[in-house]
Amino acid sequence: MKVLVLHGSPRRGGDSDTLVGRLLDGLKEAGRPEVVEFYANELHIRPCQGCLACNRPPDYACAIQDDMQAITSAFAEANLVIFSTPMYWGYMTAQLKAVVDRMEAIAHEKYFKGKVIVLVATYRHHVESTVAFFHRVFPFFGADVEVLTFRSFDPKTERDLPASSSPKKLAEAFELGRRLATRA
Ligand SMILES: Cc1cc2nc3c(=O)[nH]c(=O)nc-3n(C[C@H](O)[C@H](O)[C@H](O)COP(=O)(O)O)c2cc1C
Repeated sequence: MKVLVLHGSPRRGGDSDTLVGRLLDGLKEAGRPEVVEFYANELHIRPCQGCLACNRPPDYACAIQDDMQAITSAFAEANLVIFSTPMYWGYMTAQLKAVVDRMEAIAHEKYFKGKVIVLVATYRHHVESTVAFFHRVFPFFGADVEVLTFRSFDPKTERDLPASSSPKKLAEAFELGRRLATRA
């Protein structure tokens, strides 16, 4: 199984990275995945310029040459694609959104059909907008979508708790990985 991970948080080792790590542990326990990881915050990904070169024959290719080509190649090969992101001002991070916008060039069924797309989203108050986007868009292109969310804010104590302090959530991430190993 080929796995692509797109890390959307600028915080290496933060909540979303922690959960992806456990999910990968589960995958590795149940199978032998080949994993390629990209940290969007550390790449040169220019925002989409809306030129629509990606809609023009014969190449249907993005006109911008930067780190996105490496993601596109890995995406084409992957059976399982994990998008991880914290919520920033009501949506996925700008770093990950820039990657998603540039996917216009691969927004065809042939790139998505049969893939499993996983969203790992962490948040303090609300996550619905990003979850709804994943459920709305990727099945349209023929992919199956799985979602794992984690609320890092405890409303009772009004304190933030890292994902690493939640054995229940870590176990859920691990189990999801194990289950996905049998699917993709
Ligand atoms: C700039 C900024 C904006 C944020 N905006 C939101 C938000 O709109 N909604 C929300 O629920 N949490 C918001 N949060 C909280 C993060 O989503 C949350 O702490 C998350 O667990 C961090 O994940 P990470 O450790 O993987 O970066 C925001 C955090 C930051 C730094």
